[in-house]
Amino acid sequence: MKKDHIVVLTGAGMSAESGLKTFRDHDGLWENHSVYDVATPEAFQRDPDMVQRFYNMRRAQLETVQPNAGHFALVKAERHFDVTIITQNIDDLHERAGSSNVLHLHGELTKARSSIQPDLIVNWGYGPIENGDKAEDGSPLRPHVVWFGEPVPAIEQAVEICRTATHLLVVGTSLVVYPAAGLVHETPQNCRVTLVDPGDMSESPIAHARHVQKPAGQALPSLIDEWILNGVV
Ligand code: APR
Repeated sequence: MKKDHIVVLTGAGMSAESGLKTFRDHDGLWENHSVYDVATPEAFQRDPDMVQRFYNMRRAQLETVQPNAGHFALVKAERHFDVTIITQNIDDLHERAGSSNVLHLHGELTKARSSIQPDLIVNWGYGPIENGDKAEDGSPLRPHVVWFGEPVPAIEQAVEICRTATHLLVVGTSLVVYPAAGLVHETPQNCRVTLVDPGDMSESPIAHARHVQKPAGQALPSLIDEWILNGVV
């Protein structure tokens, strides 16, 4: 056990420099798609083809992109600190970079699951889920992602992790989607907080934090090197 436990909460901005769109930035995914058409259980009931197309497109794109310097900096941090990543992202770029402790709050694009039994999960990869692909229980396969209005099963584990943080590093998330956003209030009182985001975070629930106002791929390599050299501050 190392003395510092850095809990990293990541959002879509973490993968932006890899070429994946965020949701709420200009030209983000939600500007071009309605959440209610593609990311709710009702949408999947109403028009499964449209929902599958949206995630098939994202899965195919994921296969073509690579982790960025920010992802790799978090891997380097593991050599010096206990690092746990809690991500809202459904991409696999943290794992592909080499991070070993990654908890996915909103599911994983490279997995599929039964549309009846949430625990019946299969490793799917980057290929499309076609109409007619079935889970072992005979139900249609759906993406293993948490849609709006659905519970977030990993949240309790995430809360436990945050309670043992000595440092919280928040990267590339607008912190508007709950319960993920509430995790910033679950850390111990003396936990130090750093925010990496090129945006204006003055309205953020952690506006008091040290804010490195740069993209993750630029900010994280020097921030992690600074912590390795001087200790986490
Ligand atoms: N590096 C770091 N941060 C960046 C970068 C970058 N290169 N580019 C953009 N950002 C920041 C934006 O300034 C913004 O604060 O990333 C944040 C992205 O916010 P959102 O688009 O709201 O994404 P996120 O917070 O991950 O969304 C949460 O909402 O749509 C649902 O389930 C989906 O997991 C997602 C959740």
